[in-house]
Amino acid sequence: MEYYIKDIKKDEFNGREIELNGFVNSIRKGKNNSFLILRDPSGTIQCVSHSADKGFDEVNKITRESALRIKGNIKKDERAEGGYELSIKDLSIYSIAEPFPLKKGHKKVFLFDNRHLWLRSGKMTAIMKIRSTVFSSIHEFFLANDFYEIQSPSFVGGSVEGGSTLFETDYFGKKAYLTQSWQLYAEAMVNSLWKIYTVAPSFRAEKSRTWRHLTEFWHAEAEMAFKTNEEVMDVEEKLVKLVVKNVLIKNADELKLLKRDTKVLENTVNKPFLRMKYEEIIDLANKKGLKLEYGADLGADEERAITSSLDIPVFSINYPIELKPFYHKPDPKDEKHVLCNDLLAPEGYGEVIGGGQRVDDKETLLKRLKDEGLNEKDYEWYIDLRRYGAIPHSGFGVGVDRLVMWICKLPHIMYSVPFPRTPRRLNP
Ligand code: 4AD
Ligand code: MG
Repeated sequence: MEYYIKDIKKDEFNGREIELNGFVNSIRKGKNNSFLILRDPSGTIQCVSHSADKGFDEVNKITRESALRIKGNIKKDERAEGGYELSIKDLSIYSIAEPFPLKKGHKKVFLFDNRHLWLRSGKMTAIMKIRSTVFSSIHEFFLANDFYEIQSPSFVGGSVEGGSTLFETDYFGKKAYLTQSWQLYAEAMVNSLWKIYTVAPSFRAEKSRTWRHLTEFWHAEAEMAFKTNEEVMDVEEKLVKLVVKNVLIKNADELKLLKRDTKVLENTVNKPFLRMKYEEIIDLANKKGLKLEYGADLGADEERAITSSLDIPVFSINYPIELKPFYHKPDPKDEKHVLCNDLLAPEGYGEVIGGGQRVDDKETLLKRLKDEGLNEKDYEWYIDLRRYGAIPHSGFGVGVDRLVMWICKLPHIMYSVPFPRTPRRLNP
């Protein structure tokens, strides 16, 4: 029987003999007794070997991060951390580790240089477990709501989210780009499947180096036929509520380890999100001491100021048309604004979702492409979608790494990704 450490720290295991695999977190060697802390994905347990025991000499060869299989007896012991101790009866060594380079107090750059080792730490393990819950919850939500999961290419011929963040690659002598979003392909596929989603990497050659930008990020995107901006916001809200609820239930221990105050997460599950028009957001920002003119774009700093005192996510809606890409539908009641929404996470985190209603007629689309200086020829197939049976449709994209960053309340998006990619980091 395979056991994890967490499973055996229970009364019913007191006195029982079990076997565990694990890595050595730390070791304290003595003449009469040696203690080691064994770690597996579920937690840690103190293991003790007495000088008279079989394997005592072996224990004394062990170093930090050595990998072992231990057979021993579980004993309730108030003095041990976690209340249980394993007394070692037999030991097999998978490998003895060389001196481990990571110690307390390293600088961030050194830790990210050693990300392959740092991921073993308790904190990073907790973040990755929460990340796993976030991803599985996204799939759970879409599948429970009758969406089809469908994929789009990563090599593309043109931009979705503006040319300035396109990654260019050589494609057999032609220029190709890495995709910024599945959206344009989704708008084709939505005509046959009506409710679709994907979870895939998107790429942005971000020149702005901020605490919330990666060059490769995980994008959960959805597209829905016959839905409006308002309706798509309801879907976004339900999705975020389910993700956060699942994390609160499944990852209570991890949130505790990260010292995450869960009040705001509970609000997110239980209370309706706020909805504010762009103008109201600008007013709020100026009340917080910013000096934003109407028409200003909202970046990381502005959104940080706006959301730092909020305790629930807010939809920031209906931006001026100049601030948003060509595919956003102008509001028929006010053509200077588009039917869009950004979901801003509270506590200073800002945008985690971008979405809205799409332009669904050919003339408006041609005008929007022209106004943005884009070449109609590059979008021929996309314009076709307005020629041959166009419908109202809406969608959104969740920055999953940003969502994880906020849920865990991390200081930088790099912590939320196993191996982050930024302009300065391609290794490990
Ligand atoms: O707001 P964005 O650019 O919207 C789109 O790409 C739409 N085409 C999505 C859609 O409607 N299908 O990106 C969506 C989200 C942002 O809200 C943000 O959370 C995340 O993707 N994001 C990034 N995350 C990390 N690093 C970056 N460089 C990101 N750029 C966007
Ligand atoms: Mg956006």
